[in-house]
Amino acid sequence: MRSVPLTLLLSAFLCATGCSDSGGEGETGGAGATSGTAGTTSGTGGAGTTSSVTSGTGGAPGVTSSVASGTGGATSAASGTGGAGGGTGGAGGEEARVPAASASTLREAGEKANPPILIGAAISGGGLNNNDYKRVAAAEHSYVTAENEMKWDALEPNAGQFSWGAADNIVNWAVSNRMQVKGHTLVWHNQLPGWASSLSGAAQVEQAMRRHIENVMGHFKDRVHTWDVVNEAVLTDSDTGVGNPRMRPSVFFNALGEGFLDLAFEIAKEQDPTAKLYYNDYSIDALNDKADFVYEMVKGMVERGVPIDGVGFQMHIGPPNNEAGGADVAANLKRFSDLGLEVLISEMDINRCSNQVTAEEQLAYYHDIVEACFQLPKCVGITFWGINDGRSWLNGWSGALCNGQSSQSLLFNDQYQKKETYNKVMDALLGR
Ligand code: XIL
Repeated sequence: MRSVPLTLLLSAFLCATGCSDSGGEGETGGAGATSGTAGTTSGTGGAGTTSSVTSGTGGAPGVTSSVASGTGGATSAASGTGGAGGGTGGAGGEEARVPAASASTLREAGEKANPPILIGAAISGGGLNNNDYKRVAAAEHSYVTAENEMKWDALEPNAGQFSWGAADNIVNWAVSNRMQVKGHTLVWHNQLPGWASSLSGAAQVEQAMRRHIENVMGHFKDRVHTWDVVNEAVLTDSDTGVGNPRMRPSVFFNALGEGFLDLAFEIAKEQDPTAKLYYNDYSIDALNDKADFVYEMVKGMVERGVPIDGVGFQMHIGPPNNEAGGADVAANLKRFSDLGLEVLISEMDINRCSNQVTAEEQLAYYHDIVEACFQLPKCVGITFWGINDGRSWLNGWSGALCNGQSSQSLLFNDQYQKKETYNKVMDALLGR
């Protein structure tokens, strides 16, 4: 299986620039209510870690060939049970997942697999003002992550004052379409309101973190049963994106040390003992130094009895990310699941800007990475980071090297028609 060494910069998901706005939300503006709130504050965010996007050496697109790893998937017909909204369950056994015999949507393929697998999308408030967007989103997906509306700056723009409207809008839409929701994200260095970025001292930071987690989880308790408790706590050198991993300086780490992770998970567990609690990060998708670091970090949490249930692998492939490979991804997901954790591909997109990833490579990645998850019963879902190319966050973000071009990163084109990438994902979900 290939691995793509796009030796690009990764200050990336630090969102040094232009990160406060949900890119590509042009036509409708419904998200404006939230993004607007977020935008005014998140510019100052980043908890002092905003880091600049320094150049990138534009790595060779590299590599070819790819044969999915795989343990030889079962091919028999699926059971066809798996009702809508049916849980992330079935994650117990080591048996290979059995694909559906046929399906007309990704959602159906996921629901008919045994055990079922969630097919997710990042949903934006602006998108929900568009009928085509809504139709495709609900028909093809069973799982929702709010793209920006449940981040700290959107939900608690002023200390202790919560703003639920835009998030409720997405969550209620999801529930009415029998979709599950993952809360994204409780504790993150980015998209913090200014007041939170300037907190300091253990007592102050702990108090704010506790209040935020308790209020947010409390508000959504009946509707949201999985949470990204901590997002992107690990930093690497920007010249490789995976090298020299270490804990990221942030308002949380600076005040509380590495223990902020344990604390956040413990507070979340107290607030909702039945919720699934996740750690989520980027560039930990294949076997690499950052993934090793996160593996050890999470393993330590498991060994200490910290209530963590799963790990989300963002899977942003292409500039400015730098790694992906089917066999590597499969082995990496497997080692985390062997810790007794659920795993989830949580934010998948494959950026074609600047041709760092060719069209053929993109198709192979979509197939092989989805297959890697599908073949692992404890890989409970695959969430794509958006619905259609025109709305991808990558288009408008300088780190993604699009320069006004479309990232062509998703499964549907600007007219909401299925692309070849969609077919590759469907193939993988049907065991083909
Ligand atoms: C992105 C959104 O897609 C953008 O609209 C926003 O401007 C910045 O954040 N990792 C994450 C996501 O965990 O929350 C980020 O979402 C993408 C990277």
